[in-house]
Amino acid sequence: MNDKWKPRTRAVHGGTRRSQYGEVSEAIYLTQGFVYEAAEQAEARFIQSGDDEFIYARYGNPTVRMFEERIAGLEGAEDGFATASGMAAVSGALTSMLKAGDRVVSARALFGSCLYVLEDILSRFGVDVVFVDGTDLAQWEAAITPDTRAVFFESISNPALEVVDIEAVSALAHKVGATVLVDNVFSTPVFSNAIAQGADVVIYSATKHIDGQGRALGGVILGTREFIRKTVEPYMKHTGGSMSPFTAWIMLKGLETMELRVRAQAASALKLSEALQGHEKLVRVIYPGHPSHAQVELTRRQLGGPGGTVLSLDLAGGQAAAFRFLNALQVAVISNNLGDAKSILTHPATTTHQRLSEEQRHALGITPGLVRMSVGLEDSEDLIADILQSLDAA
Ligand SMILES: Cc1ncc(COP(=O)(O)O)c(C=O)c1O
Repeated sequence: MNDKWKPRTRAVHGGTRRSQYGEVSEAIYLTQGFVYEAAEQAEARFIQSGDDEFIYARYGNPTVRMFEERIAGLEGAEDGFATASGMAAVSGALTSMLKAGDRVVSARALFGSCLYVLEDILSRFGVDVVFVDGTDLAQWEAAITPDTRAVFFESISNPALEVVDIEAVSALAHKVGATVLVDNVFSTPVFSNAIAQGADVVIYSATKHIDGQGRALGGVILGTREFIRKTVEPYMKHTGGSMSPFTAWIMLKGLETMELRVRAQAASALKLSEALQGHEKLVRVIYPGHPSHAQVELTRRQLGGPGGTVLSLDLAGGQAAAFRFLNALQVAVISNNLGDAKSILTHPATTTHQRLSEEQRHALGITPGLVRMSVGLEDSEDLIADILQSLDAA
């Protein structure tokens, strides 16, 4: 890849490897393994395999490698490891680097599965996890003690859309030598500058904007070559959370159109947030790029764009109104993914965040009336009309 290429060129050509046939569209190497010319070659490859030498698909595969190089080039990361899902990336990044006795400081506003990994799994293995309000720098400063090994947060939280200041939190973490791991799903690879802003490790659920068309689960861990190849790769290749070649092909094709899709979706999200402000059935319209959001300045500085493709609506009538509203949708669908071409609405309190206690949900702003909307590629006028007619029904 040419270092001078702009993001859209990287997203189309980065990482491409052509076979002897010179195919235009990337080949899917749908094979579990690779044949060696001699026993000596097999031995040498197990000792140290070169960039274009593969052993077994759990360790690596040409199609998967194309995806890893393409997304790493886009993010400005030295290297990447592709995983079977976003959660394999989150859990793999954390467990590959942590050991019993380590201290992790994490934002408390997290996707339900991320919270489960930090709160239930890591603590079972003797990792000490401390949670803070991710928007409060004083809490980060107090919690990041000299023995802190890692800092973890979602740069925009799911579903209350709180924005964490990557630059400021990374500076605090680096003062004590802690590694900063950022789940960057809501910021998207299109608007993200997380590595330039100080993050050491950036994690994506590729299921979201990278595929963007609801076809496959996937994830990726991005960071320095040293971290990816020496810490993440040995853990992932032996524990089995690698991405399949077929999924990597879907994600490669997704990356080619991601910039156009995500910019269009974010522009519609901003329009929706503007059209719905002050609606009588809504207590709040939350969109990080709207002037009414408490962190709009940080959003603009951090993302350099409108604020992602997701907004959240808090219905005045609680869960009953939220359900009536959802059941009246005619264009958007009720589901739980995000970043998709189809607009998707979710009721977090009864689905993605159902496992949390009422107090936890309250602390995270997940009210009974809160609905998360992932804005798709439909015409924004049709979406606004659909939301307004559904609000009438609420
Ligand atoms: C912030 C965040 N992190 C991680 C994930 C997990 O991704 P996956 O479903 O691909 O495992 C999600 C999924 O919704 C998410 O919203």
